[in-house]
Amino acid sequence: MNAAIRATVRTAVANGLQVIGFERGYAGILANESMFLDARTVSGIIHLGGTFLKTARAEQMETADGISKATRVLKENHLDGLVVIGGDGSMKAACKLHETSGIPVIGIPATIDNDLAGTDTTIGFDTAVNTALDATDKIRDTATSHDRVFVVEVMGRKRGFVALEVGIGAGAEVILVPEIAHDIDKICQLLLESNRRGKKSAIIVIAEGAGDSTNVTEGIGEKTGFEVRLTRLGHVQRGGHPTALSRLLACQMGEASIQFLLDGKRKHMTGIQGNRIVPVDLEFAYTTEKPLDERLYRLASELATLHVS
Ligand code: F6P
Repeated sequence: MNAAIRATVRTAVANGLQVIGFERGYAGILANESMFLDARTVSGIIHLGGTFLKTARAEQMETADGISKATRVLKENHLDGLVVIGGDGSMKAACKLHETSGIPVIGIPATIDNDLAGTDTTIGFDTAVNTALDATDKIRDTATSHDRVFVVEVMGRKRGFVALEVGIGAGAEVILVPEIAHDIDKICQLLLESNRRGKKSAIIVIAEGAGDSTNVTEGIGEKTGFEVRLTRLGHVQRGGHPTALSRLLACQMGEASIQFLLDGKRKHMTGIQGNRIVPVDLEFAYTTEKPLDERLYRLASELATLHVS
């Protein structure tokens, strides 16, 4: 998000615009807490995780009261445009704010969940995937050395995008995602067969939205008799230096957000499709369910030794 703020501010300044940044996201708008941002204020942040403006979950923005309060603050600040960086909740509130205030709004998709439609990927997703992959590779060392089965839980809220990419990258034997039903008995049977063929360890990557990881872990342990351990990667996935891909995306989307405003767009999100930055209808982005790539899911299981004799 820092890289996106930097690109947004610098593009705006280069185009003769004045920029204020609200601190703590919508919480800062509601409290009318902002700071002037210029090209220098955003120096030295491109490599840092998180956001120097800070962020917060602002449940008030889900109420009509919250939206009208935020609308008042935006008008008091005489804004000509608003750039909102965040996930689906942020995009939804941004859409409402545009409707109530008439102020043009551009969203920049930044969420590790990658669950916004109209964009192939979101800022932070690649970073989270790489962090989780690195951790899973380390867990693989224990799994192999100790002949154990590990269940590794990754984030993603209700979606399996993180789990799918981490699972493929880590060569996981099983990937469990909310979008595709799984059968624990069948998984246990495959683990037992593969164990008989000499493969004594396995990694199961489970998305946090794909079911209760503790139940899955205990269930597999009971049904197979194997030593099964659960590791929840948790918030480690949300921090750290952004990858080159996340930074590049943030730079391009930050620049595009200002370009879209200058072009007269009023309610859009920056998206990337193929290798091109495109405007996406803001409402479409958070109301449409982005499909999980089932071809990739099939590829993962085709490549896992569990299924290859
Ligand atoms: O939406 C991003 C995300 O990291 C999800 O993957 C996760 O479920 C959630 O946020 C965690 O939120 P919090 O830090 O508020 O518990």
